[in-house]
Amino acid sequence: MPARKIIIDTDPGQDDAVAILLALASPEDVEVLGLTCVAGNVPLPLTTRNARIVCELAGRPDIAVYAGCDRPMGRDLVTAEHVHGKTGLDGPTLPDPTMPMAKGHAVDFIIDQLRTFAPGTVTLCTLGPLTNIATALRKAPDIAARIAKIVLMGGGYFEGGNITPSAEFNIYVDPQAADIVFRCGAPIVVMPLDVTHKALVTQARNDAFRGLGTPAGIAVAQMTDFFERFDKEKYGSTGAPLHDPCVTAYLIQPDLFTGRHINVEIETSSELTMGMTVADWWSVTGRPPNATFMGGIDADGFFDLLTERLARL
Ligand code: BDR
Ligand code: CA
Repeated sequence: MPARKIIIDTDPGQDDAVAILLALASPEDVEVLGLTCVAGNVPLPLTTRNARIVCELAGRPDIAVYAGCDRPMGRDLVTAEHVHGKTGLDGPTLPDPTMPMAKGHAVDFIIDQLRTFAPGTVTLCTLGPLTNIATALRKAPDIAARIAKIVLMGGGYFEGGNITPSAEFNIYVDPQAADIVFRCGAPIVVMPLDVTHKALVTQARNDAFRGLGTPAGIAVAQMTDFFERFDKEKYGSTGAPLHDPCVTAYLIQPDLFTGRHINVEIETSSELTMGMTVADWWSVTGRPPNATFMGGIDADGFFDLLTERLARL
């Protein structure tokens, strides 16, 4: 099968960085058409910087990196320096990027690529708030029918939320955008906290990254070292959850994940539960399914894949 064409929409973030590295290390599975950056973990000037640092770390300064929306559709930007550090990519010391940004807006790039390639051939992988994707859908509604799939990290149901008791960060930051995406009609695969909180970087798994002895392997180990202090304190877990790499791992090895095709709607009006992914896991509403909501992961298989692919960089 030819490599699947993907656009990675991202707000790096250490876990975004690992997701991007996994994709760039897997050219036989995915062809990265470009990275589109959005404000999220840190403001847009930092996410665009971090995305280029990651491309250069992977030895891919040729990747097109576009700047997108610098704020959510209808709310003030909420960022997560308390998790990711001041730069968004705290941990390793990596050189400033020298590759230029691609010209044009990320939203126009997304629209253009979906219109250029045959319908059903471009997959959108989203690792941050859904502002760029929803803005593209608003500007060019025809693209919805052309999207092969949207594979996104966001939401949570059994795990609750991580930024409020009921909302996960990516959905909370721009609930209006998430609502537009979940209603757009394209096939959607969701990697919620229910899955990502099972993808924990234990000491042994981090040692395996470091043991690769390559710049990418060492940088990933240092990123997760930094990232994990927050989750260890908060959840008492054994290590950091690698949220976003679940998205790119799914494109390479979907059988690592299990879930249900169900109805998922987004809370956009109640401040108390703003950004909650209301997942009809038990099919009690009769509302039509619009997303495959994952719940299970073969964590050992996931980390084996990650380590094996990172070794190639
Ligand atoms: C999500 O929010 C960000 O902090 C991570 O990069 C991930 O995309 C997890 O809630
Ligand atoms: Ca992210």
